[in-house]
Order: sequence, then structure tokens, then C-alpha cells
Amino acid sequence: MIRAVELIAAKRRGETHRPGEVRALIDAYMRDEVPDYQVSAWLMAVCWRGLSDEETTELTLALADSGRRLRFDGSDRPVVDKHSTGGVGDKTTLVLAPMLVAAGAVVAKMSGRGLGHTGGTIDKLEAIPGVTTTTDADALVAAVRRDGIAVAAQSPDLAPADGRLYALRDVTATVESIPLIASSVMSKKIATGANAVVLDVKAGSGAFMKEADAARDLARAMVALGRGTGLPTVAVISSMDAPLGRTIGNALEVREAIETLRGGGPAELAALCVALGAEVLTAAGAGPQDAASERLRRTLADGCALGVLRRLVGAMGGDVRCIDEPDRLPRAARVVEVKADRAGYVAAIDALRCGEVAMRLGAGRATKRDAIDPAVGLVLRVSRGDSVRQSDPLVDVHCQEEPSVDLLDALRAAFSIHERAPAPAPLILDVIR
Ligand code: URA
Repeated sequence: MIRAVELIAAKRRGETHRPGEVRALIDAYMRDEVPDYQVSAWLMAVCWRGLSDEETTELTLALADSGRRLRFDGSDRPVVDKHSTGGVGDKTTLVLAPMLVAAGAVVAKMSGRGLGHTGGTIDKLEAIPGVTTTTDADALVAAVRRDGIAVAAQSPDLAPADGRLYALRDVTATVESIPLIASSVMSKKIATGANAVVLDVKAGSGAFMKEADAARDLARAMVALGRGTGLPTVAVISSMDAPLGRTIGNALEVREAIETLRGGGPAELAALCVALGAEVLTAAGAGPQDAASERLRRTLADGCALGVLRRLVGAMGGDVRCIDEPDRLPRAARVVEVKADRAGYVAAIDALRCGEVAMRLGAGRATKRDAIDPAVGLVLRVSRGDSVRQSDPLVDVHCQEEPSVDLLDALRAAFSIHERAPAPAPLILDVIR
């Protein structure tokens, strides 16, 4: 019988648990032999004292083993997955997952609903009329076998211990711990049967990690965990000081993803997807990086990746006509322009402020119970470095009601306009393999 109080005290003193103890704690918790309050206390001790690499690996595998572990045996195509730590305007999954499948991989993805600025991948897909998402692991496997791609919401069958632990962390101020975040993310990748994973770890004002060094620490922890658990993992650190692409808001982001899959869209979005995709294909052993990049670019040029998105949307019950006629996507009642109050160069577009405004419009959730309005959001009319004249449009607000002066002022404040052009800023800050 595990003595949870001894593990809590040991961790509070900063000691390392003996092999098997972390797993025993998780297993006992899942059998309801250890109450929430003791696991909460242990989580708080972990927040302060951390976990060793070995403890983190043991925790990750215990979380993954708490439910089913999917397998896609018999396929000669690698099963790849990506994870983003989340950012403003981050629609990479909608673009990258179809690209990966068109380039010869299989994607079995469990995605979250968003909390904060805009929706998660599930909310974005559900902005397409008719789309419904499953949480059923068997349905995920069947769809992957049929279409080579499936996106499901968090299934209660996969890493259920992570679901329970995360719910406790959410209400005990214990989310912000690198070993806890890393084990939570990686346990779900292991449970969904991935052969290789790429992590898009965002750094900047609109990201969970504001500083690149903190993002690097999290990335290193997850890459080490991948090594410890036998799951090849690469992390790309990308900038989230400015929103990614031009749109923020669920249907607007779907539109931009479709444009990108047609070979248009913002160059930086396509470039990030190619970089992430080439990393994960290479990690999965599907050829050298240059060839993988070339293959991925071709999936945009020849329309194959767009065809995969069509297949995914159709399999989820969505109106596939939206792919060719994006005007069928939900549209807001009005569009209000916000204009530059002075001439100069756009030196910065604050992702966090844009995200907060998008959330106030209804594009994101302040609490888990909030409903999302798929139609509302922002469309940037300028990028960092552009020169603008006074009264040039900076951003369009897609809204259902006349926006308040306060909201428009908050949005204008997101744009810093300076006399001099800013130095170029790279989107990809680092890659950790
Ligand atoms: N996302 C997860 O899946 N887990 C965390 O702990 C944090 C973000």
C-alpha cells in the first residue's frame, strides 16, 4: 500500500523518489486509493522541487499507461504528431496535418478545445458547418485507417490520469511546472501511438512562455522525455510576439488555412509548417530534411494537402463545399476598420493584446463553459515592418455588434508605429533535436 503522505513529505524536502514510486502513486490515485487532496499536495511539492529526468519519464509512462495505447501496426507509413504550446492566430495544425498526410505520413491527433484568446484546433474545425468531433478512441483509429488522418477531442480512454491530474492542477495553481507540462503533453502523444512528434514551442507576448529561454527549457525537457520514452521528438521554438498569419478567430483562421493549402496565404505560415513538417518526417525516419521540405512544399503546390483537408472535413460530417467556397463559412454581421493614427513603420503587433481583443469579441473562452462565436475575430491588414500612412487600415474587426470605443482603443494600442523600420525578426528562434 502506498503511503502518499511519505511521498509528499519526501518531495517537499526535495528528495528524489525511488524507482516505481511515482507510478505507484498515479496507479493508486486512479484506483481512488489516494484522494485528490494528497495528489494536489504532491503536485505543489513537484512545482517547488521539480522532478528528475527519471521521475518525469516514469510519470509520463504512468499517465500514458492509465488508459489505452493506440497502435497502428501494419502501416508502412509513419504515424506523426505535432503539438503547439498555443498562440494567437495559431492555425498550423489545420495546414500541417494535411500536408504531412499528403507527404506520406499518417496523423492521429487528439486536440484540445482552447481556453483563452481563440479556440483550439477542435473549435476551429467546428467552425465549419456540420463538423462534429468524436472523443471515441475506436472512431479515431477507424478514421485513421480509412483516411490516413483523424482529429479527435480528448478521449476519456486515452491517458485518463492526465485528465484527472490536469483538472487538479487547474484549480491548485500547479499548471506552471516544466516536468508536469512535459509529462502531460508527451503522455498523450505516447497514448495516441505516434512514431515521432514535433513540438512547436511558442515564445513571446502571446505565448504561455514569454521568454525564449523559458521556452527552450520546456522544449529541452520534452525532447529529453521523448528520448527517455523512446518517442523521437523535436522541438521548434517559434516567435509569438506577433500573431501568426493575418487572422485571429475560428472561421477566419480556417479560411486562412485553406488559402495556405491552396499555395497562397502568409508566407511565414507556410514556412513554419514546412519547417515543422520536415523536422517530424526526418525524426520519423522518412528521409533527409531537404527532401522532406521539398515534398511538403509540393503538397501545397499540387493541391494534394487541400484534398486531405477536404477528406478530413467530410469524414467529420462537415460541409466540404466550404473548402472551395470559403464564403460559406460563418461570417460576422459587420466588419469595422481600425486605422493608423499616425504615419510610420509597423514596429510591433502585440499578439497578447490582439488575442485579448479577439476573446472579448467572442472568438475565445474566458472560462471553460463559455460558448465561442465561430464568425468573429480580427484580420490584420499590415505586417510587422510595413510602412503606413495616417488613416491607413491596420486591422479589420469582424464582429456581431458595434465594438466599443474601449475595445477599438485596446486594439489600436496593439500596433506600435515608429519612424524607423524595425530590424527583421526571425519566426523560428531555435530547433532542439
Ligand atoms: N497542455 C497540456 O496538454 N498539458 C499541460 O500541462 C499544459 C498544456
